[in-house]
Amino acid sequence: MLKMQKFFIQTFGCQMNVYDGQRIAAMLEKHGLTQTDNVEDADLIILNTCSVREKATNKVYSALGRIRRAKKDSALFGIVGCVARESGSDAFKRIPELNFVLGPQSYHKLPEIIKNPDTRLLNIDLGGLEKFDELPQMTKTPSVAYIPIQEGCNHCCTYCIVPYTRGRELSRPFKDVMQDTLNAAKTGAIEICFLGQNVNGYKYTDENGKLFKLSDLIRETAKLPEIKRIRFTSSYPTEMSDDLIEMFGIEPKLLPFLNMPVQSGSPRVLKRMNRPDDINAYKTIVNKLKTVRPDIQISSDFIVGFPDETDADFEETLNIARDIKYINSYSFKYSPRPHTAAALMDNQISEQIKSVRLQRLDSQLNENQREFNTSCIGQEMICLLEGPDKTGKHLIFRTPYMQQCIVEKPESEISPMQKIKITDANKASLRGEIIK
Ligand code: SAH
Ligand code: F3S
Repeated sequence: MLKMQKFFIQTFGCQMNVYDGQRIAAMLEKHGLTQTDNVEDADLIILNTCSVREKATNKVYSALGRIRRAKKDSALFGIVGCVARESGSDAFKRIPELNFVLGPQSYHKLPEIIKNPDTRLLNIDLGGLEKFDELPQMTKTPSVAYIPIQEGCNHCCTYCIVPYTRGRELSRPFKDVMQDTLNAAKTGAIEICFLGQNVNGYKYTDENGKLFKLSDLIRETAKLPEIKRIRFTSSYPTEMSDDLIEMFGIEPKLLPFLNMPVQSGSPRVLKRMNRPDDINAYKTIVNKLKTVRPDIQISSDFIVGFPDETDADFEETLNIARDIKYINSYSFKYSPRPHTAAALMDNQISEQIKSVRLQRLDSQLNENQREFNTSCIGQEMICLLEGPDKTGKHLIFRTPYMQQCIVEKPESEISPMQKIKITDANKASLRGEIIK
């Protein structure tokens, strides 16, 4: 058996991957390995990957090319996560030196490669969520703890590879999620962010037939004194049930900020995306949220250049961005993905048109963001410390809207939750002063 001492892990993509990366590191540490930031030094190299857009997959393969040249001859290397699932055994054809290819639900099998370094390990099954049972609990948690509550997605938006890579939707048992949450609270977490590809679709029925929803998780978590802030991402519009909307009015620990992707403002495009296509129903949900929580802000994901999107369709996307005044949004050019229906649709849009539309949408989104940030000047907000900035002279906080707020570093130690007066703002961040 090879003497394994050090592992290197690089994570790409979403928060779910960041979480998976932390769990993998904890698991390997339990097997006696230590983490290194230096690929050349590592005995085991893991790329924890994202395949949501073609660019993301390409990034992983170019990183693999670099690592192949830099690593020690004896080092084992491989991929886990969504590119592993997307590529399957093709990954071995593209990079013959790869030792393992493990999908998002089988990375707990990683220690097998340590025991049998001479075999190739391929597992891209979508068995279930056993990985959660087999991974050790973390002994130290950062101030923001990301906790997956469900995985996979049943919505099958026609552009999206996630239902293929992460599989059908599965909700974790309520008591398991609460156990993780309690452990996070006891080991340093101040904010809990519940994660799921369709997080507000969380539904779990226990052995007595009792149904638990996301609102129940929020209610239970809010009882923990260590936890001061709660949020969740990403939400599917038509799954914003009334009990969940009401939580925004009832539970002050629930942040007044919600990511609820609309993707497009055009009913015609939404229908072809297999998304909820009633824009008025979407606006009704936003209005209900504003009624129970007048200070709530919404963010969205957008896709421009979906097959057959016309200029008129795109104008409707600009309209909704303007109407809802989304803050902190993400916008992407449509990227055809394997295993998806939209990749086979007629009238794919040229790269050039996609770029022009993305630029126009981004300038609208930037304007929204600048306007919102500027409107915060003079306000007092309770913010959570993230850490020092690069210079070490400032501290970076996160506002309840996830804006970055930079303050002068005080002489003495401070607690991580601070009331801050916002003194200045630009598109990207805020400046503030700690209120003594
Ligand atoms: N509900 C999921 C969404 C996952 S993908 C979650 O947040 O967990 C994140 C975002 O990527 C989507 O909301 C969508 O805007 C974008 N996206 C997904 N597939 C895409 C594709 N093929 N091309 C461009 N953008 C895409
Ligand atoms: Fe993807 Fe749509 Fe689900 S974007 S993750 S299929 S809600």
